[in-house]
Amino acid sequence: MALGFAGEVADFYHRYRRGYPPAVFDAVVAAFGLTSDDIAVDLGCGTGQVTVPLAARVRAVVGVDPEPDMLAHARRAAAEQGAANVGWVIGTDADVPALRAVLGDGSVGAVTIGQALHWMRHDDLFASTFPLVRLGGGVAVLTNGTPLWLQDGDWSRALRECLEQWLGTRAGTACGTDDASQERYRESLAAAGFQVFAHHVDYTGTLDVESIVGGVFSALPVDRLPPPDERPAFADRVRRALEPHAPFTEHVHVTVLTGRRDT
Ligand SMILES: C[S@@+](CC[C@H](N)C(=O)[O-])C[C@H]1O[C@@H](n2cnc3c(N)ncnc32)[C@H](O)[C@@H]1O
Repeated sequence: MALGFAGEVADFYHRYRRGYPPAVFDAVVAAFGLTSDDIAVDLGCGTGQVTVPLAARVRAVVGVDPEPDMLAHARRAAAEQGAANVGWVIGTDADVPALRAVLGDGSVGAVTIGQALHWMRHDDLFASTFPLVRLGGGVAVLTNGTPLWLQDGDWSRALRECLEQWLGTRAGTACGTDDASQERYRESLAAAGFQVFAHHVDYTGTLDVESIVGGVFSALPVDRLPPPDERPAFADRVRRALEPHAPFTEHVHVTVLTGRRDT
């Protein structure tokens, strides 16, 4: 399967993608009454931004992702942070029935999906996940802020223009962070039988040009990354376009959509 997250994109993702604030994990734990007896599955775990902090709150986590290079980073991050209770599995949303066969129905406290649902067939996924989770457990769909180039602010608009000129196409989609996607996910969770609740965590951060460029590279498909010898020119171009709009403040709106199994 050809995926965009291989090789250097995985490196950029690991290095530059922000993690989630602790309040997000508090919300997931509270939503499903998670304890140190629970198992969680983190689907589309990438380089472990959800998996590793979640592992500190439960007995064990299974991190699932189709991209081995992302999993390799996640595994290293877990080892560095002393999380020995995570198992890593190459797989996709289509493998939930296999997870049910391995783990057993009603065995899982939470299935988390961090910034990855837009890659999945959510209707089928939520339906197949319902029997996997225990009563009171459920699915948590997380988004981690609007993409850097789609934010509401002068530096973000300048970045968008810069990217569109460089790539020769319109800069990408909102990756499930927009209201219409959230509404679709909410309806889909409800249709699968879950009780749906929405939680939000908002905070403000300041970025530098290096992290903006790294963040952009982490979001490009690997075949659209500028070749290494062109990256300094790209970074320069971004720096010149953004400089008049410093400081690069971003208001990060993290959403936690939970679907709880009550029957
Ligand atoms: C944007 S990253 C999210 C990583 C991390 N969960 C986070 O919150 O930052 C999306 C991840 O979804 C994975 N992915 C893509 N298609 C998938 C699928 N059908 N099933 C499971 N994971 C998928 C990609 O390999 C990638 O690692």
